[in-house]
Amino acid sequence: MKILVTGGAGYIGSHTVVELQNAGYDVVVVDNLSNSSEKSLDRVAQITGKKVSFYKCDILDREKLDEILAKEKVDACIHFAGLKAVGESVAKPWEYYENNIAGTLTLVDVMRKHGVKNIIFSSSSTVYGDPAFVPITEECPKGVCTNPYGWTKSMLEQILSDIQKADNEWNVILLRYFNPIGAHKSGLIGENPNGIPNNLMPYITQVAVGKRDHLTVFGNDYDTPDGTGVRDYIHVVDLAKGHVKALKKIEENAGLKIYNLGTGTGYSVLDIVKNFEAATGVKIPYEIGPRRAGDIAINYASPDLARKELGWEAENGIKEMCADSWNWQKNNPNGYDD
Ligand code: NAD
Ligand code: WQD
Repeated sequence: MKILVTGGAGYIGSHTVVELQNAGYDVVVVDNLSNSSEKSLDRVAQITGKKVSFYKCDILDREKLDEILAKEKVDACIHFAGLKAVGESVAKPWEYYENNIAGTLTLVDVMRKHGVKNIIFSSSSTVYGDPAFVPITEECPKGVCTNPYGWTKSMLEQILSDIQKADNEWNVILLRYFNPIGAHKSGLIGENPNGIPNNLMPYITQVAVGKRDHLTVFGNDYDTPDGTGVRDYIHVVDLAKGHVKALKKIEENAGLKIYNLGTGTGYSVLDIVKNFEAATGVKIPYEIGPRRAGDIAINYASPDLARKELGWEAENGIKEMCADSWNWQKNNPNGYDD
């Protein structure tokens, strides 16, 4: 089977390409490199020993996508391409709706023109808003998103669901990721944020490598055991393997399915700092600062449905997540620019 991976040069995409190639799939990557480097795919080839077919292409570019699909005859698409910075989406909502929504509509239109009606979509736990209950099952009602990025995910879930309902030749799997961290064990690929990291783990690893002098903890007055925010961190390689399992489900004519990909365990910000220090031996100085606008207190998944229906569950614990994040950062202090 040949799989089109949009956004395959990015963080989760590159790890998924490794798992797809290891599982014997042929992979075609489309990425405009707006938030990634083609070098990630050279590293993927180093890991798997297989070259990746790569097209530098924007998913808004209908003609180029059409040419690629005419040539490559793919069977399914794993759709990672999208802009993902929460704060930037508040400042640039038009750009986020254009890129993520118009981009996906273009992609899906070209796919159906070529008779490709299988898609796995990168959604996010952000669609639950401030969740009605934890652990969050897929039955939990979708919530009010606090930023345009989150709305693009919520709206795209609706759009893809409606497309599948109107034409049951489509198989649509919506994967709601919790908080991906970690990196491939080889230390060759990992998260490579531009500028100041927005997310906790890349911020911590940049403090550890000496690029930033301390971490600011965003609030310690939440209603959580130590007052800091609780999240469900998941190793990116486990997340990548979840996509391979979802492809198997697509091959069984899944119809429309929604799965949480998380571990089921919540860790606070201070738990992460302590676990990082224990796993790496590197001290992380921190200060308590004010809450970050839009943050919620607590969010973690029930991973039961993915376990039952996909036969998937996370294998790596917090120790591996911290150790592997650090292994990537210390070997590549400037990401793919080293
Ligand atoms: P990433 O930025 O590393 O990867 C996204 C890739 O898409 C990048 O390589 C970027 O260059 C590419 N891209 C963006 N717009 C494009 C366009 N118009 N045409 C072609 N390529 C384009 O991000 P990631 O962390 O790997 O996330 C992958 C997907 O998972 C995204 O859709 C993201 O919203 C979603 N997601 C991420 C997280 C997370 O915390 N990392 C959590 C939930 C969901
Ligand atoms: C985790 C915790 C922060 C940085 C975001 C998106 C979500 C999804 C995953 C894409 C929170 C705290 C963070 C720092 C801190 N992405 N923190 N100091 O906010 O759970 O989720 O990424 O879909 O949509 O919203 O992740 O890593 O930013 O924060 O104290 O410098 O760490 O307040 O409690 P978040 P995060």
